[in-house]
Order: sequence, then structure tokens, then C-alpha cells
Amino acid sequence: MSNGPSDSKGFETRAIHSGRDFVGDTGTVTPPVWLTSTFEYGNPNGFDYTRSGNPNFRLLDRTIASLEGAAHATSFGSGVSAITAVVSTLKSGDVVLAEENIYGCTFRLFAQVFAKFGVEVRYVDFTDQASLEKVAEHAPTIVWIESPTNPNLKIIDIAAVADVTHAADASLVVDNTFASSFLQRPVELGADLSLISLTKYTNGHSDALVGSVCTNSDEWHEKMTLAQKALGLQPSPMDCWLTLRGAKTEAIRMERHSSNALAFATFVEDETDAVTVRYPFLPSHPQYELAKHQMAGGSGIVTVDFGRSLDDTIKMVSALSLFPRAESLGGIESLVCHPASMTHAAVPKETREAVGITDSLVRFSVGIETVGDLIEDVRHALQA
Ligand SMILES: Cc1ncc(COP(=O)(O)O)c(C=O)c1O
Repeated sequence: MSNGPSDSKGFETRAIHSGRDFVGDTGTVTPPVWLTSTFEYGNPNGFDYTRSGNPNFRLLDRTIASLEGAAHATSFGSGVSAITAVVSTLKSGDVVLAEENIYGCTFRLFAQVFAKFGVEVRYVDFTDQASLEKVAEHAPTIVWIESPTNPNLKIIDIAAVADVTHAADASLVVDNTFASSFLQRPVELGADLSLISLTKYTNGHSDALVGSVCTNSDEWHEKMTLAQKALGLQPSPMDCWLTLRGAKTEAIRMERHSSNALAFATFVEDETDAVTVRYPFLPSHPQYELAKHQMAGGSGIVTVDFGRSLDDTIKMVSALSLFPRAESLGGIESLVCHPASMTHAAVPKETREAVGITDSLVRFSVGIETVGDLIEDVRHALQA
């Protein structure tokens, strides 16, 4: 059984050639799907029951760990399951110091589930240097950030937050979903955990849900393995297979997502009456220099405030024909989301608006279609 290509190989090579174990003597070039709930006792690879491990999980874990530049990866049934796994390691009285603009379902999980177990979450703006200086004062167990954030695309200095987190004797979790492993590797920048919804860019085809937690720490890896089986957070073998297949084309997809999104954002900024256009690789982005330093591309999300009323914003979004209105992002097809009524509907209006998620904010997940067609679609919807 080989461990796939060594880490000295390039991202694309590792994405394509990792995960070819367990092929036995069949000569198969792609792995099968191991649709089994249980395994015969005493097998050489130590599998016992799919809730605590399956060859499809293991192939995916090895590939994702390699792509993230981490020693370990553990897969879960979704990004939210991965978040649940990490937060389940906390106990009553522990403090999570979180970025104020985090994914709505992470916020909901903290507020509506883990608060009941005595886990306290405090929110700060991690683009503000003063927040970094005060991390230790909160005595956090975990510091939780996303970069880029959902949906405002704030870019947070992962290495700087890692330094202050470690000085406070805490662990840094970075949700890397919006960036993808191809464009940004938090563990290499000093994060203890890189958490990814593989549902998005890694799978890339909007047909499976999987999450992953990557780390260099053996202790964190053990905690994640325990959470996977003890809480029943495991993914399905089929979804792991689909995600592993998606990972093989992640690099070329991310290049196209990034170039399309930059062209799209430039058009909206230069040729429409949008009030604000957020895209990490636009020079007008407040953390443009940091984004260029920390990420290999701007990724595929563009967030625009068209400054229109709630009704007009919803009308405009409905007039798009190449951007179905749907939750999620990161697939090859473009999608549009109106956070106030969709992903962040669970966040109270005052809390939303305080972090810039207004009723007129629109989040585009720019796919890999012909970019001129996407631009024409928006031009037309704005006129309509
Ligand atoms: C930043 C971020 N983290 C985590 C998740 C959750 O992932 P999943 O939908 O796979 O549970 C999402 C989903 O949109 C997300 O945007």
C-alpha cells in the first residue's frame, strides 16, 4: 500500500495521484466506492465499521491533508458537521473568540446549540489591530476566523492571528471554505486547524456534502477521529468518492473561478451604479495587499451592495438567468445568494446590519462559464 506521491510534488500532481491505495490486484485506475457499513474483523487496514472509518474516507483524508499541507485530515458529513466536531471538544465555561462576520450557520450553531452547553462565544473584528492586541484578555480556548469571510469577504491576517492566539495559549481555527486549499493553506500560515466545507470548491460540482478538519497536531487529530465516530458525524463513502474526484480538477477550476470573478467584479465596479463591490483581488478592497500576500487568487465570490430596496434587490436577483438563486457556492455553475433572506436569515437583522449584511447585499458565486455571458446576464438584470 503506497501513500501516494510525496509532498515534494506539485498541487495538481498530488490532487490527481494521491488516493490510489487499496486498489489491490485489480489494476483499477480510479478507486471503487466501498458501500459497506461494516468490515470483517482483523482486516489488515484496521477498518471495523463505516461510522469510524471507510477506505473512501481514508483516500479523501490523505489527499486533503496533502493539499492543505497538513499532517492529518478527518472528513465529516458536511462543513457544519466539521464545525460541530471542533466545538464538541469544548466544555462549559470555555470561551470562543470569533470573527464577527462568520458564516450564518456557524453563528446559529454557537447561539442555539452550544450556548446551552455553557460555551461562550464573543465576537470581534479581526481586521482591527486593536482586536488582535486584546485576544489574551478574553482568555479564549479557541479563536475562530474565516478568510475571506462570508459574505463580506474581509481578509484576515492568518499568520498574525495565529501568533496572538498562541501567545494566549489557545488554538486557532480557520474556516478555509471560501478560499479553497489551492488558493490558501491556513496550517502553513500557523493555524492549528483548517476547516473546509469540501461541499464547495473542493468537490466543485454541487453534488455532495463533505467537510474536513486538517491539522498538524496529533492531539487534535485524535479529537477529530473521536468526534467522527462518537457523534456520528461521518460522511458517506459515495460523497467522499465524488469529492475526491472533484479535488483532481480543483487547481484548474480555481484558476478559472478567480479570473472570471475578477473580470466580473471589475465590470460591476466600473460599469454599474453599485454602491460597493467587494472582491479580494480588486485594488479597492480594504485588505487588497494582504489578500495578494496570503492567497494565490481571489477565488470565485463577489459581494455587491447595489444600494436598492429589499424588493428591488430581490427583483434584480430574480431577473438573472445564468445565476440560479440558491444557497451554497463554489460549484462550476454560477449561483446568486441574497444573504439577508437566505444564508444569514438566522442572524437577527440588527446583528446582520451591524456587520454590513444589508438588505441590498448580493453575493455572487461566479462559476467557470464564459465570463462575457455572466457579465451580460447581470447587465440585463440591472436594466430589467
Ligand atoms: C464559510 C462556510 N463554512 C462552512 C459552511 C458549511 O458547509 P456545509 O454546507 O458543507 O455544511 C459553509 C456553507 O456555506 C460556509 O460558507
